[in-house]
Amino acid sequence: MSIERSAETNEAQIAVHWKEEEYVRSSAKFIGQANLVDPAITERFSEKNFPECFREYADMLSWDRYWHTTLDTSNPPFWKWFVGGKLNVCSNCVDRHLAQYGNKAAFIFVPEPEYEPVYTITYQELFTRVNEVAAVLRTFCGLEKGDRVTIHMPMIPELPITMLACARLGIIHSVVFGGFSGEAAGLRASDSGSRVMIYSDGYYRNGKIIDHKSSADIALEAAAKAGTKIEKVLVWRRHQGQDLSKKPMVQGRDYFMDEVLLNFKRAKVDAVSMDAEDPLFLMYTSGTTGQPKGCQHRTGGYLAYVAGTSKYYQDIHPEDVYWCMADIGWITGHSYIVYGPLALAGTSVLYEGVPNYPDAGRPWRIAEQLDVNIFHTSPTAIRMLRKAGPEEPKKYHYHFKHMTTVGEPIEPAAWRWYYDVVGKREAVIVDTWWQTENGGFLCTTKPALDPMKPGSAGPPALGIFPIIYDEEGKEVPAGSGRAGNICIRNPWPGIMQTVWGDSDRFVKQYYQKYCKNSKSTDWRDWPYFAADGAVLAADGYYRILGRVDDVINVAGHRLGTKEVESACLTVPEVAEAAVVPVIDEIRGRMPVVYISLKPGVEDVERVTEQIISTIETMIGKIARPKAVHTVPDLPKTRSGKIMRRVLAAISNAMDPGDVTTLANPDIVELIRRQVQGAGPVVLKEGPEDLKQFGANE
Ligand code: PRX
Repeated sequence: MSIERSAETNEAQIAVHWKEEEYVRSSAKFIGQANLVDPAITERFSEKNFPECFREYADMLSWDRYWHTTLDTSNPPFWKWFVGGKLNVCSNCVDRHLAQYGNKAAFIFVPEPEYEPVYTITYQELFTRVNEVAAVLRTFCGLEKGDRVTIHMPMIPELPITMLACARLGIIHSVVFGGFSGEAAGLRASDSGSRVMIYSDGYYRNGKIIDHKSSADIALEAAAKAGTKIEKVLVWRRHQGQDLSKKPMVQGRDYFMDEVLLNFKRAKVDAVSMDAEDPLFLMYTSGTTGQPKGCQHRTGGYLAYVAGTSKYYQDIHPEDVYWCMADIGWITGHSYIVYGPLALAGTSVLYEGVPNYPDAGRPWRIAEQLDVNIFHTSPTAIRMLRKAGPEEPKKYHYHFKHMTTVGEPIEPAAWRWYYDVVGKREAVIVDTWWQTENGGFLCTTKPALDPMKPGSAGPPALGIFPIIYDEEGKEVPAGSGRAGNICIRNPWPGIMQTVWGDSDRFVKQYYQKYCKNSKSTDWRDWPYFAADGAVLAADGYYRILGRVDDVINVAGHRLGTKEVESACLTVPEVAEAAVVPVIDEIRGRMPVVYISLKPGVEDVERVTEQIISTIETMIGKIARPKAVHTVPDLPKTRSGKIMRRVLAAISNAMDPGDVTTLANPDIVELIRRQVQGAGPVVLKEGPEDLKQFGANE
């Protein structure tokens, strides 16, 4: 992989003329009840107090054995946190709350069909159910500490129950987003070396029943092809005793969980005391090259980081009703639906369905019905709900004290609707910037202490010390108006440990670019490269501009262009394929596919359909392209490299720049006419990530 960029990119990075927005301040009412109101916190977490400052987060947990070394940097960039400490994540999230909060809601489950009643799982009940599932995993599946399990499930309570059961035993869970295809799940299961996969029979989405179990057969086939035999499939049933899937169970391989559980009623399983550095879970995400990589997260540092940030930035108190509308299959759900809120004895709402089903008033009805007071979602959902029902929130009597936006840059107009209409000008907003690799927030305002600035994530989170570098490794100073690559100078407890099974890739992807001395054991020599462009305003607020690598951020979810291209190339008629991002009003960015066909292929429509269905089968519906353009040839350099940057410019009506040095310059105008019509070139200043797209080719 090359993350070097050419000189012309540096040109493109200069001069980001953002209009600076006015500050918005949080209300006295919010400040009056907030967890974090002491301004001295900034000093406590200043660089001179690093890394010991993170004791404050670790002390929010119950340790079986206290650690002796806060941060061990002896083998960079494989940092070790809270070394010598022992704890169990499940007992921190469940058992320790029983005495005080046993009868309080841990989860409130909202089924998508509105006629189905909402139900609550108390901490006591969660304890019972997690123990029973842990017993199944241990006794029925023979799983133990360090084994991996792949969980491909939708948003039903059995998903976090299964995760917590894994954590109780030290089994490393790898949750694959339910919307990913069976094939994608199978490849991830194989990469992680799972012997067991956990499914549900089906679920409700957009008013329809989705047959999810059918993915299991495809997953197992894909895993087998990749060299891994999955021995058992456990299937949770959405409705006990009924099967929502048309696919038959495979004898001796597939088991309904409700039936297996009959043998484990009231079973209790001791929580296994884990080393702080033992892995807790894997979360696969797209990077620049090849297949998605398994981000390996640690036990102690991760839980400390999500507990601390949930308390200070999400402002979760046990008496709050907190609803994060993300899916648990993404990192946001792991950290801020399950582990962070539960570590604090919070009440976390799980919603099965899509936000605008059956109409755009649904989220606000849920908020009213459950008295939700903390709400967490993405700009894509905000834009979608705004478009579908701009006045809907006004019809419902709920009051949020706090709201989060995460996953993509949010434009000030969408921010204002969120603030004025959804938040009724009562709720504070945090715009939290972070990544799957990071465990928890990296930049965000402290809700009671820092003013909000629409469109900016804000200052760094406590104990995080970012820096923006240019391509030469020189710092881009605050207030310069120039963009660069945002990096984090220091390790923090939530950072992933490594890429599962591929430590080289971990070092190369995140640390090689700006490492000052690869022999050094001083963390100061190892800045973390986030692959996001950013500008730093004079007031210390970071504005995140988007990915600088070949990752497309679709509705806040990462999609590797190379993964989509590989899928296209499996269609036999396709000669060449290039995938580029295009701006989408709702989803931020979407992939657009350009292909050239092999000689003699004529049925373009059929090939297009096949490309779309192949992408959906190999990756999932999330990767469905906005358009597929079949063109006579793709623009290439004289050395034969496809110029994706030129295609991205065409798709977004931006200036493609100088194309005269290409091997086939004439093709550019031809493609432009095909895509944009015969009119004159529209030259638009594009957003930073699009200007830079493909620049490392
Ligand atoms: O480009 C950034 C964008 O989402 C990417 C990380 O995606 P993922 O690993 O799927 O995690 C998403 C949720 C944590 C980042 O590299 N991103 C995330 N949050 C923001 C953001 N861009 C702008 N503003 C944000 N608040």
